[in-house]
Amino acid sequence: MNILIIGSGAREHAIAKALHRSPQAPKIFCCGTSKNPGIKPLTENYWVGDIGRIDEVRTKAKEWNINIAIIGPEAPLEKGLADVLWQNSIPTIGPKQKLAQLESSKSFTRDLLTKYKINASPLYGVFDDLLLAKRFITDLGENNYVIKADGLMSGKGVKVAGDHLHSFEEAFQFCSEILAHQSKIVIEEKLIGQEFSLLCFCDGNSLIPMPLVQDHKRAFVNDEGPNTGGMGSYSDRDHSLPFLTEKDLHEATRINEAVLDALTFEFREPYIGILYGSFIATKNGVRLIEYNARFGDPEALNVLSILESDFLAICEAMVMGRLSRNLVSFENFATVCKYAVPNGYPDHPEKNFEIDISAVHNKNNLYFGAVDERNGKLYATGSRTIAVVGIADTIMDAEQIAETEIQRIKGQLFHRKDIGTNELIKKRIQHMQDLRACNV
Ligand code: AMP
Ligand code: GLY
Repeated sequence: MNILIIGSGAREHAIAKALHRSPQAPKIFCCGTSKNPGIKPLTENYWVGDIGRIDEVRTKAKEWNINIAIIGPEAPLEKGLADVLWQNSIPTIGPKQKLAQLESSKSFTRDLLTKYKINASPLYGVFDDLLLAKRFITDLGENNYVIKADGLMSGKGVKVAGDHLHSFEEAFQFCSEILAHQSKIVIEEKLIGQEFSLLCFCDGNSLIPMPLVQDHKRAFVNDEGPNTGGMGSYSDRDHSLPFLTEKDLHEATRINEAVLDALTFEFREPYIGILYGSFIATKNGVRLIEYNARFGDPEALNVLSILESDFLAICEAMVMGRLSRNLVSFENFATVCKYAVPNGYPDHPEKNFEIDISAVHNKNNLYFGAVDERNGKLYATGSRTIAVVGIADTIMDAEQIAETEIQRIKGQLFHRKDIGTNELIKKRIQHMQDLRACNV
């Protein structure tokens, strides 16, 4: 069986490792934007190029007689890579272009929820007129709005009042910038609570959930600083999260199911791939922040590290429409993932400096991101560099493992020491308790 992975970050490294563990011993191929030193040794063949050029990726997939392709990042999904691969008889994990609008257009998703009466959105409006946008922001009130570019902006298209925008003037300026990028503006009421990710495998009919994960978007300890791709994440032994109730979990599951039904009805096409709901638990219940049409990075590192069953069998079942619960099991372990990123990340990262991982004890728990290998040495290229996953019976123990190992990586790097610590988890639990208490 020949499997193609499209993408070359830490998420794709986790995908490659999970495939490599399969007892079916598939041959792994990769089309990536760089030669990931973790993925490379696991592959039969590796092409480096622009994975947004879907004709070139298709040519490689045909040349390598690929049986199943897995698309890692969102950009090729938006460009219709899944459509092209299916047209060439290559079953693909990752939804077709129309379905991928769930991630590529924030207004599409909010309007889909409205049309199908799925009660999970905050108050929102979609604008291409600055005056109307200004009025909506003013009506929501100071510190009560979030402004988003409608399309994909590599994680830079969202600004939250109070965190990134400190006056109506700044908010209006951001709206003008979005319009100048030829994008519509989505404005939402600001939700207060704790965020979590619920990723599901999907074969077009059934959704099979993965363990819940909490990511940390902010660059610095205590959730301060600019938004990033994600500085680290954790999952718990019971596959839920310590600040969530059973009811929260049911609500998030219900929203994912209703959205899958709505999408299928809207386009009469099966959604095959990963459905990743990014939710927030609030005092009024669970609300949707956004959808992604792919594995999360770093979430994939948490969940795939403890996937017990054969990932290749799950992929086969997804593309054949035969997914079932008995094909998917995860070990009952907690995981903590921490990313080491270049000094200055995300706004002005150092680039092209050497990193040294020789002191790391368990290299099996390392995932390479923006790293190049040249003459046997590793160089950080500017984005999130390398992730470490700790796995243990408790979040606390998993955190210790991840923290100890990440400190053994040498280079001009920093990481968030607080992710997965008892102190931060307690804060999360307390925050939800306080919010819920206000509601009674
Ligand atoms: P997104 O790119 O939509 O995931 O947004 C990035 C981050 O902005 C999210 O992880 C949230 O922290 C924050 N955010 C987005 N929408 C909202 C909202 N309506 N209320 C509060 N925070 C939000
Ligand atoms: N963990 C955030 C993302 O993958 O978009």
